Amino acid sequence: MACAWLFIPILFVPLFHSISILDIVMAVLTIPDTGYSTRDVAEIRHYLQQFGIWFDQWKATATFDPQADQDTILRAYAHVLEPFMAQHGYRVADVININALTPNYEAVRAKFLSEHTHTEDEVRFFVDGKGLFWFNLGNDAPVFNVLCEAGDLISVPAGSRHWFDAGAVNPFVKAIRIFIDMAGWVPHYTGADIADVYSQKMTVQ
Ligand SMILES: [Fe+2]
Repeated sequence: MACAWLFIPILFVPLFHSISILDIVMAVLTIPDTGYSTRDVAEIRHYLQQFGIWFDQWKATATFDPQADQDTILRAYAHVLEPFMAQHGYRVADVININALTPNYEAVRAKFLSEHTHTEDEVRFFVDGKGLFWFNLGNDAPVFNVLCEAGDLISVPAGSRHWFDAGAVNPFVKAIRIFIDMAGWVPHYTGADIADVYSQKMTVQ
């Protein structure tokens, strides 16, 4: 059952200031068509900022059983989630938990892997495993991806064309999703086959 946390939005504060930046390097930014790749968090943050994508890193030290339920995972990070959500007006959080035991994984992968947009920002905090966030933002920007791992926090602006890949085999990722309104997260598929093209070039190993 989805866990909904209700918060009363507080007075306006600058959106998305850094909460806890670590020295630990986790994410990787890659532009497959140019061969560019970096693990430098400052570079990643700067590159993403030009597209309005916000990136940060939180401490992610909790360990979970493969089938840990949603409430267990949310409780483990309540100390950072609750203040963040209250500060930015987010009202609901849930968890995606994908692993080798996930039923019908091919269908689950296909759902995330098709290029889509949302009507509200997509915010995810990765707490275990890894996955590739892909972006196709137009205006001559190259298609690029960010490998997100435990500790990475990313916010994709509403309307951005993107997709997500947990890998063709042995998927393993746990991520907390944060919403203002869960209805805003409904994917609007573009119908483009670009995700298929790029997932042939690169996926999660
Ligand atoms: Fe999405």
